[in-house]
Amino acid sequence: MKQTVLSTNLRTGALLVFGLLVSLGALAQAREPSPLQVSIWASSCMACHGPEGRAEGTGLTIGGRPADDLLGKLMAYKSGKLTATIMHQHAKGYSDNELRLIANYFSTLK
Ligand code: HEC
Repeated sequence: MKQTVLSTNLRTGALLVFGLLVSLGALAQAREPSPLQVSIWASSCMACHGPEGRAEGTGLTIGGRPADDLLGKLMAYKSGKLTATIMHQHAKGYSDNELRLIANYFSTLK
């Protein structure tokens, strides 16, 4: 009898811990990347697209352009609709939401 109660308690405890871990995992995934994280991603783009996303005279300026326009291109690279030499690889490295945040970031640079 005592042992049954103990094993039931253990099972309930294990279920609670499991439930807690699953919820924590879901929370971690749902958390929006911080503005600092987005600016770090964006700074890697600036190696080719210039400081603040301005690459004068190259046709690669992305800073200050509408977010929809930038996101449209990034999603088209990711899906392979738009052929590219580099950007299809780059775009695949980010989730759709991350690309949206990066596009928003560049659109705010004047
Ligand atoms: C290694 C250099 C390089 C890096 C790094 C890079 N790009 Fe590009 N990007 C290019 C090139 C080159 C093109 C032209 C398409 C092609 O051939 O890939 C381009 C095109 C684009 C375009 C379309 C521009 C237009 O007007 O058609 C967008 C938007 C863009 N990149 C955004 C980004 C973002 C956002 C990042 C960072 C996540 C990034 N790029 C990182 C080289 C780079």
